[in-house]
Amino acid sequence: MKKFILILLTGVLFHFAHSQNEIILKPEEAKTEISRHIYGHFAEHLGRCIYDGIYAGSDSPLANKDGVRTDVIEALKNLNIPNLRWPGGCFADTYHWKDGIGPKDERKHIENLSWGNEREDNGFGTHEFLDLCEQLGAEPYLAVNMNSGSVQEAVEWVQYVNHKNGSSDLTDLRQENGRDKPWNVKYWGIGNESWDCGGDMTAEYYSNLYKRYATAMTSYANTEKLFRIAVGPGSDDYAWTETVMKNIPAKRIEGLSVHHYSVFDWSAKGPSDTFSDEEYFKTMHRAWFMEEFINKNSEIMDKYDPDKNVALIVDEWGGWYESIPDKGILYQQNTIRDAMIAGMTLNIFNNHADRVRMANLAQTVNVLQAVILTEGEKMLLTPTYHVMEMYKVHQDAKLIPISLNSEKMVNGNQSLPAISVSASVDSQNLLHLSIVNVDNEKDHPISIDLGDAKYKKVSGRILTSESVRDHNSFSDPDKITPRSFNKATLKKGKITFELPKNSVVVLEVSE
Ligand code: AHR
Repeated sequence: MKKFILILLTGVLFHFAHSQNEIILKPEEAKTEISRHIYGHFAEHLGRCIYDGIYAGSDSPLANKDGVRTDVIEALKNLNIPNLRWPGGCFADTYHWKDGIGPKDERKHIENLSWGNEREDNGFGTHEFLDLCEQLGAEPYLAVNMNSGSVQEAVEWVQYVNHKNGSSDLTDLRQENGRDKPWNVKYWGIGNESWDCGGDMTAEYYSNLYKRYATAMTSYANTEKLFRIAVGPGSDDYAWTETVMKNIPAKRIEGLSVHHYSVFDWSAKGPSDTFSDEEYFKTMHRAWFMEEFINKNSEIMDKYDPDKNVALIVDEWGGWYESIPDKGILYQQNTIRDAMIAGMTLNIFNNHADRVRMANLAQTVNVLQAVILTEGEKMLLTPTYHVMEMYKVHQDAKLIPISLNSEKMVNGNQSLPAISVSASVDSQNLLHLSIVNVDNEKDHPISIDLGDAKYKKVSGRILTSESVRDHNSFSDPDKITPRSFNKATLKKGKITFELPKNSVVVLEVSE
C-alpha cells in the first residue's frame, strides 16, 4: 500500500513539474490578421548603417546595384521585408531632402549633427532609397523633418515623390533626375521623438504643429490617402499619448509611433557580448516591458479610437548596449540574447495585432540590434536575422489567440515569464507556433493543446546555442543558424516537447 501511495505521489508531482508551461490555442476566437508590417526595419544615416553597410557607391569594387551592396540586398530579400523606415531617427530631424537629389557630384555636403558630426555627401538620397525599396519589394516609410524643416518642405517632398508627371516644377525635376513615374509613398512619419532630439516639444505644442503638417501634406480634399504617423512616447509618459490622441482628430491620423529599447540603465548599458547573467536578466526584463507599454498605450487609444482605426506603430525597438570602439557609431555585437529579445518582442506584437500594425527593428545593418553586420567585403547574418527569417511565416497570417501558463524567471523582486509564444494560421491552412525559452539556465517542458484534433503532422526549426553570449563572427559566421527540430510529438491534438534553454523554435503543424 505504502509503495502504491509513493508511486501515486511521484506521478502527481511529476505531472505538476511537467505541466507548468501550458499553451492552449483558441482557434475559434481567431479573427485578426497579423500585419506583415510588424516585420519592418529601420535604416538611419548613422555610423555604418547606410554608408558602408547598405550603400557602397557605384564605383565600389564590391558587387552592387546602383551603389547598394548586392549581398545585403539578397540577404534582406530573404526576410520579405515589408517596409523600411528612413532617413532617421534623430538624423531625420535635421535632414533636408533636397540636399540628396540631382547629380551626385553637385550634392551638398553636410555635417551629420545627430551622429558624430561626420561629413555626409548625400550620395544616398531620396532616389537611392526609394529605388532600394523597389528592389526589396518593401514599402518605403519616410520620416519628415519637423524640427529644422518646414511644412512647405514636407509638402514638396510628398509632391516630388508622389504626384503625377506634369503636376508641377517638382515632378518635372523628378523626371529630369531620372525617375519617370511617381513612387507613391504611403507611409509618412510626421516628426521623430519630438519630445527630445526632434525639437524638445510639449505634447500640446507637438499635436498642434502636427495638424499643420497633416493637413498641408495631403490636398484639401484629402485625396492623397497618405498614412500619417504621429509621434507617441518613448517611455512610460502616457500623458503624451493622451494629449496627442485627444488633440488630433481621427481624420488626420492613421498611426501613432512609439519607441522602446531594451536598456536597463541608460548611463551604463553594459557590453553587447560579454554581459553577465544579471545583465541578461535585466535586459530581458526591459524587453518584457513591451507588453505593458503596448497595453497601456492601447488602453488610452481605445478611449479616443474604440474602433482601432489608428495603428500603434513601434517604429524603433531592440537591444541597445555599449558600442564596440572603432567599429562605427552604435555598432554592437548581436548574440543569442538578441535572438531572445527578437523572439519575445515579435510574439508580443503578434498577440496585439489588433492594434499593433507596424513595427521597425532598430537598425538594419551595423547599428544597434542589426540583422546584418559587415566588415569590408565580408557580411554576416546575426541571430536576430535568423529569428526574423523564421518568423516570416506569421506575415499576413491569421492570429490564433492563446492562453499561456508559464514558469517564471525571478531575480530579486523582478520576474518575467520564461516562455513566450504566438500562433497563426496561414492561407495554406498551415499552423505556425513560435515559442521562446528565455530562461538561460534550464530547459522547459512544453505542452500545447491545439484545440483541434484535425492536425496530424508537426515539424520545426530551432535557433539556439549553449550560451546567451554566443554570436556569429567574421571568422565563424555560421556558428548560430537555424537547425531542424524534430523533438516535438503530436498526439490527439496535443504537442509536447522539451524546449532547450535560450532557444527559439518555430513549429509547423498540418493535417
Ligand atoms: O536608433 C537610434 C536613435 O534612437 C534614433 O535616431 C532616435 O530616434 C532614437 O533615440
